[in-house]
Amino acid sequence: STKTQKLNTGASIPSIALGCWQSSPEDTYASVLHALKVGYRHIDTAHVYQNEADVGRAIRDSGVPRESIFVTTKVWNTNQRDPASALDGSLKRLGLDYVDLYLMHWPVPFVKPAADAKEQFFVKDPNDPDKFYNDREWDYIKTWELMQKLPKEKTRAIGVSNVSKTNLKALLAAPTTKIVPAANQIELHPYYPRFELLAYCKEQGIVVEAYSPLGSAQSSLLKDPQLTALSEKKGISPATLLISWGLQRDTVVLPKSVTPSRIESNLKAVELDEESIKVLDNLHKTTSGRIVARDWGVPVYNDPEDVPPLKK
Ligand code: A2P
Repeated sequence: STKTQKLNTGASIPSIALGCWQSSPEDTYASVLHALKVGYRHIDTAHVYQNEADVGRAIRDSGVPRESIFVTTKVWNTNQRDPASALDGSLKRLGLDYVDLYLMHWPVPFVKPAADAKEQFFVKDPNDPDKFYNDREWDYIKTWELMQKLPKEKTRAIGVSNVSKTNLKALLAAPTTKIVPAANQIELHPYYPRFELLAYCKEQGIVVEAYSPLGSAQSSLLKDPQLTALSEKKGISPATLLISWGLQRDTVVLPKSVTPSRIESNLKAVELDEESIKVLDNLHKTTSGRIVARDWGVPVYNDPEDVPPLKK
């Protein structure tokens, strides 16, 4: 599908992206290269995925002009007090002059490790080694205040990720908020459909991006009995059903794959009939749950429609 959506900046964002979460550096290089070859024009990465350099190298080696590719990366939690430096770091690793979209990865500021610490993505909470050390003197609304000042030459648009309706309302109501996020990238699939948050974002002109649209490797959504029955009945693969459902509810979908044939087939979307939509819309009534199970130490899943993690 070459479908696009419009951001509140006026820019177009391709509705299907290659997701790079949980892709190794080698797999990232090969899959981004393949994706660009078969027609993807939108790549989603993040500092914490540790594959920005591989994304950048694949973009350069692809021969596809930079300006025809939409690139997203994200500021990691340890850098929320200085998103400008974090963006410079990402651009350096990517080997790009600008990104198309820069997201605040989580509304969860972390304490920054010492420059010489081996682990750069978190510090263990001194009171509980099973938890990350949150920066309690900072919050995501302050991070957004700083992100609004990022130079246009370095990021064409700014947005957020993992922001609930409750937290988004607080962000939009803050006196320091002058720019409405262009996008909110959230976990979204039929086991966690988030109808309220999606409607609220649409109302505010915020594009919603769905990560883990296939349920990720951590769930068995692709093998759901109702989904596979629908797949057989309609002659449409489970993955295509899920991707098409995502597009039909006006979200940008970010399926991740390192398998060439899947990368190719995930670019396919079909017009779903009412019956199929109904099955997918109602799947959460049988099985519901989210994939990301971590307790972030601050309210992240604080909407009435939010659900506990899926049982393993
Ligand atoms: P792989 O990367 O080995 O191809 P999500 O996008 O929800 O995070 O899901 C990604 C998971 O789904 C990965 O394990 C990926 O495997 C697998 N996957 C991606 N595309 C397809 C597909 N078309 N059919 C089956 N599994 C897929």
